Amino acid sequence: MASDWRDFPKLELHLHLEGAAPPALTRQIAAQKGASTDGLFDGAGGYAWDDFTDFLKVYDQVAAFYQAPEASGRLAEAVLSEAAANGVIYMEIFLSPDHVSPAGGADQSAWEEHLAAVTEGAERAEAATGIVARFIPLCVRGLGPERALRAAQVAARAKTERVVGWGMAGDEREYKPVDFAPAFQLAADAGLRLTAHAGEFGGPESVRAALDDLRVERIGHGVRAIEDPSLVERLADEGVTLEVNPGSNVALGVYPDWAAHPLPRLRGAGVKTTISTDDPPFFHTTMTREYDMAEKTFGFGKEVFREIAETALDAAFCDAETKAALKARLDR
Ligand code: HPA
Ligand code: ZN
Repeated sequence: MASDWRDFPKLELHLHLEGAAPPALTRQIAAQKGASTDGLFDGAGGYAWDDFTDFLKVYDQVAAFYQAPEASGRLAEAVLSEAAANGVIYMEIFLSPDHVSPAGGADQSAWEEHLAAVTEGAERAEAATGIVARFIPLCVRGLGPERALRAAQVAARAKTERVVGWGMAGDEREYKPVDFAPAFQLAADAGLRLTAHAGEFGGPESVRAALDDLRVERIGHGVRAIEDPSLVERLADEGVTLEVNPGSNVALGVYPDWAAHPLPRLRGAGVKTTISTDDPPFFHTTMTREYDMAEKTFGFGKEVFREIAETALDAAFCDAETKAALKARLDR
């Protein structure tokens, strides 16, 4: 297989800032803090974890190294530079106010410092590589509705032109989407566009509930909608965009391998689909690898990837002017 999709222009809508932390940077930050990283790395250039529950735990451990603004600014710059080296021209990054101040709930001033640092990191990466970044703060489902509402308040108050959306990650098997309706309403009222993780470790009912109760316009993952043909039809009819992360799904065991992944079937049914990496070093992936694997397994080529880029551009939460500039770069 020719690994030649690196330079193809890509838009990435689903990536978690701390989940993308380069292990080498985490080592440096840990060394500066004199903190132990025993058992954190897997010897293959990624982080060590064994199932979804453990993944979320290790994710929290990695995030803890990036609470200080000096660290989070370097992180944003590194993550965006790495993405740009993989042909990404536009990226929406999930930020987590609860990971910045994990003890008692999202703290306004800690979050504002974090956001300022991450913004400066993004500006450095943009200046060096041309990649364009926007942010989507989110809540962590397992922390419950009160923490989510607090995170939404903190996020909405610190809204900048780069903060374009609101989302929810974490363990879909905990609570129900409706429990988080107040947080999503608050975010929507503040002018943030909405997305939520669903249909990854939850089935079709979880996707339906995110649409009905949270009024999201995109779904993070959403792939398990494939288990219910009427839901697939609804997604296609309503033009809901799925932020699909095939390598993540395979790594976490949602599907046994790439060949079993429903992305081509969802596309075939007319559902709007995009491709992202989610948490690249946790899943030993990059955007280049996702595209190489999609070519190898699904036979996707230039035309499909171009369509996916346009779908992502349509579904992006940035302003029309930014979209027009990105469109021009795609057309070049
Ligand atoms: N699912 C749920 N929560 C997450 C993920 C994911 O894939 N990545 C980071 N937090
Ligand atoms: Zn995710």
